[in-house]
Amino acid sequence: MSHLIEKAYNPETFRKHGHELVDQLADYLKVCLKGEGIKALPWKSPDENLNLWETDFSEPSEKNLKEFFASVIQHSNHLHHPKNMGHQVVPPVPLTALTELLSAFLNNSMAIYEVGPISTAIEKIVTGWTASLLGMGKKAGGVLTSGGSIGNLTGLLAARQHQADTDIWEQGTKTEHPLAVMVSAEAHYSIARAVKIMGWGEKGIIKIPVNEQKKIEHRLLENHYQQAIKEGKNVIAVVGSACTTSTGSYDPLEEMAAFCKTHDLWFHVDGAHGAGAALTPKYKHLVKGIEKADSVVVDFHKMLLCPALTTAVIFKNNDYSYETFSQKAFYLLGNQKKDNWYDIAQRTLECTKKMMGVKIYAVLRTYGSQLFSEYITRTYDRTKVLAELIKESEDFQLAIEPEANIACFRYVPRQKNSRELDALNRTVRDRLKKDGTFYIVQTIIDDRVFLRATLMNPFTSKTDFIQLLQAIRDKSPED
Ligand SMILES: Cc1ncc(COP(=O)(O)O)c(C=O)c1O
Repeated sequence: MSHLIEKAYNPETFRKHGHELVDQLADYLKVCLKGEGIKALPWKSPDENLNLWETDFSEPSEKNLKEFFASVIQHSNHLHHPKNMGHQVVPPVPLTALTELLSAFLNNSMAIYEVGPISTAIEKIVTGWTASLLGMGKKAGGVLTSGGSIGNLTGLLAARQHQADTDIWEQGTKTEHPLAVMVSAEAHYSIARAVKIMGWGEKGIIKIPVNEQKKIEHRLLENHYQQAIKEGKNVIAVVGSACTTSTGSYDPLEEMAAFCKTHDLWFHVDGAHGAGAALTPKYKHLVKGIEKADSVVVDFHKMLLCPALTTAVIFKNNDYSYETFSQKAFYLLGNQKKDNWYDIAQRTLECTKKMMGVKIYAVLRTYGSQLFSEYITRTYDRTKVLAELIKESEDFQLAIEPEANIACFRYVPRQKNSRELDALNRTVRDRLKKDGTFYIVQTIIDDRVFLRATLMNPFTSKTDFIQLLQAIRDKSPED
């Protein structure tokens, strides 16, 4: 008789593999942080990677687990490498990898209290901490959910349920006076997606132009609002970005909050990337006014050092979070009472959910909020160093002064027209990616191609920036 199940659950085997894996990761971290002998991105085309892993996917055998771990590490995008400046994905602080292991093992999925008792309590503490860091007042609170996109949907669902003149959850949407939100033309696409998921269509998104710094032109809100009313729309909310994805620009939240107050509109802030600035003495001015929002989204897997996905959705009045999914599931949730804070699934899209708060709680319990503050301050500061270098170099152009840790710039070697520069920068970025020594991405600003470096790694230094600019020159095609 096979004893495969007993084998798979053998504590000593688990201990051995676990020790091996932690050793491998610690060695990898050491090498990565130095950035020597390893590239930021070990580039392979999608088909090459598929081929590699199809070949690996052979007969089951426990023997080669260590090699499997090593191979996964070797072929991954190396976020802890100082020359990795790609997307807004943080190199997680190592402690959080340990708490992920702990959470995955215990697997106390937390739809209702009794399934995940400690993670439920921890989630309340962590969301309470987030609400107070944003200064949202005593009634504030919220939930953790799986990513900024779902977070934005959650906030806007609550706005709809609270602001619309009928109970849309029960009765569906009406066709007269269709609902709409006002949002910056530069907002993350998850806002438009949330609107479309809610069935309001393209007309449900009123895009407000931005100024030169790519911040919403708040003085245009009034005109667009009046125009929408003339068109028979029912505008229920305004969305602010703190900050935008492409350029890291913070919308003027204070002015937007005042506009919402005047017209009794819900104010939602997408702070997925940059709300954490509230923790830092140096940069908290960027989020002034966030405390007046009705709902705020904060991604812990962006600027708060945690692995994906962990997002907080914080409501100024925590009671509103009970309106988001006004769905009755009596077999699971019983009677939905607002004082029943501990059956969290009644307030989240997820039913089963990971023990999300444990890693945040562990960081706060071990290092305090100072770690977050130092991390954000350092990455924002160093991005300014990169911006200065770009401005000092005649063959580079900075798109806008960075407010956060995102710098957009392009290589402008000599007199070339805009289309040639677009092609040049596309080619350079593609060559950089395939070489893998540096990892940066690209974006479109005012219809032109720009290179985009997001400084997620706190160990990236001025030397790395100097070498990056030189690598870009070296990758430029000869005429
Ligand atoms: C401003 C902003 N909002 C929302 C999102 C979506 O977050 P997630 O990828 O966690 O769904 C992003 C992702 O980059 C973002 O930058």
